[in-house]
Amino acid sequence: MSFDHKVRDLSLAEAGRHQFRLAEHEMPGLMSLREEFGDSQPLKGAKIAGSLHMTVQTGVLIETLTALGAEVRWASCNIYSTQDEAAAAAVVGPDGTPEDPKGVPVFAWKGESLPEYWECTNEILTWPNGEGPNMILDDGGDATMLVHKGREWEAAGQVPPTTDADSEEFSVFKDLVRKTLAEDPKKWTKISEGIKGVTEETTTGVHRLYELAKAGELLFPAINVNDSVTKSKFDNKYGCRHSVIDGLNRATDVLIGGKVAVVAGFGDVGKGVASALAGQGARVIVTEVDPICALQAAMEGFQVAKLDDVLDIADIYVTTTGCYDVITADHMSKMKNKAIVSNIGHFDNEIDMAGLAKIPGVKKVEIKPQVHEWTFEGGNSIIVLSEGRLMNLGNATGHPSFVMSNSFANQTIAQIEIFTKPGEYKNDVYVLPKHLDEKVARLHLAALGVELTELSKAQAEYLGVDVAGPYKPEHYRY
Ligand code: NAI
Repeated sequence: MSFDHKVRDLSLAEAGRHQFRLAEHEMPGLMSLREEFGDSQPLKGAKIAGSLHMTVQTGVLIETLTALGAEVRWASCNIYSTQDEAAAAAVVGPDGTPEDPKGVPVFAWKGESLPEYWECTNEILTWPNGEGPNMILDDGGDATMLVHKGREWEAAGQVPPTTDADSEEFSVFKDLVRKTLAEDPKKWTKISEGIKGVTEETTTGVHRLYELAKAGELLFPAINVNDSVTKSKFDNKYGCRHSVIDGLNRATDVLIGGKVAVVAGFGDVGKGVASALAGQGARVIVTEVDPICALQAAMEGFQVAKLDDVLDIADIYVTTTGCYDVITADHMSKMKNKAIVSNIGHFDNEIDMAGLAKIPGVKKVEIKPQVHEWTFEGGNSIIVLSEGRLMNLGNATGHPSFVMSNSFANQTIAQIEIFTKPGEYKNDVYVLPKHLDEKVARLHLAALGVELTELSKAQAEYLGVDVAGPYKPEHYRY
């Protein structure tokens, strides 16, 4: 079988396959979905365009989707997050060889340029014989944005001219859309009409979906996977609790204990990051805009301060806000010598990298890939990780398998929901029903030796719930 793909090196597939095998052992949610749905093939006929970090754990997700009958094409949703051995293993597949790959078309490698990144996103939406996908599985919303902006600009008859106000990323994006429309002026109408829905992984992508729905511009139904409790309260929190330290260590190996660490944002990700840094013995300072989250941080024992007031004492910065310009060029120029500056939120605009590069006299030296020292005219320098992009995937390998099994079990169930129930979902944003959220948690209990207490019928009646759940009302916050 031959199919198009673009990855670093297929000879890495064996190394990737060994890691898939170990990851499968740590991903009981995905493996039990393979068992439950392997025979009934609910995703038969699904053509999924996947835009999500091409890691080992994503490899196990891809092979779960195909085990349930889907065809997929895959790209990463970040230029640095691909693990090249995982991309190779997904292309080669469990039964193929590098010479005769039998897996799936993947378009992803670590260290893509921005034009390459958008080419790869276009590839997953461009299926053989001029067809498109009928499902999107997105992380951060870039694949969904390409379809929506493509269609909007197609209807307007042109891509708006690039201006100085456009970020480099947005102007590259416009170039790509221009190119696709020159090749096929009706491309995005055709593709959007074939799509039954999207399932979105992360806070930032979900935010974009709600904006589209609010404006009445969402072109197909969407499931917000992020706000399954078994996603955001686990992956965002406990996943980042693990992978933020991994990113800092692999990038710099500085001792975290005793240092002053600033965590910008105390949402789900910030809570995990702050607890990990405190666990290493750092003195953690939180910045927040939301009084509830600020009070939570204070109750956890963290100082809550304004960034401007702690620039002279902080050694390590991690932004977790999903906002932009949280650390400005001015902030960076006032930081302590050799301060480490990093972001774990979805996009790179939390740290003003463009502004940093424009500071007069500033010099950039690559210490190693994804670790750069920026030296100011006065002689002080700061260390910036992953060029301001998410450091846990750029400097390390992202979250561990067990937590991703929760997120990806939600993704798989959400894909089945939309694909098998056409007409039941409108062009709006939905979360999975609570019984499915509880199911995902249940799938992970045995692996941790958890013994669940069962309600008696009388107890269930007393609480007003069913013995089999759901156990909480919709408004419960966990
Ligand atoms: P969240 O909404 O729960 O938390 C963000 C917090 O930042 C909020 O409490 C908000 O009040 C605060 N905030 C916003 N603007 C701020 C500012 N200017 N200064 C200080 N605080 C500010 O969102 P969540 O789930 O914690 O996600 C945060 C980001 O991390 C998103 O971009 C999300 O997509 C991304 N993410 C990254 C992961 C990774 O592996 N790197 C995993 C999961 C999410």
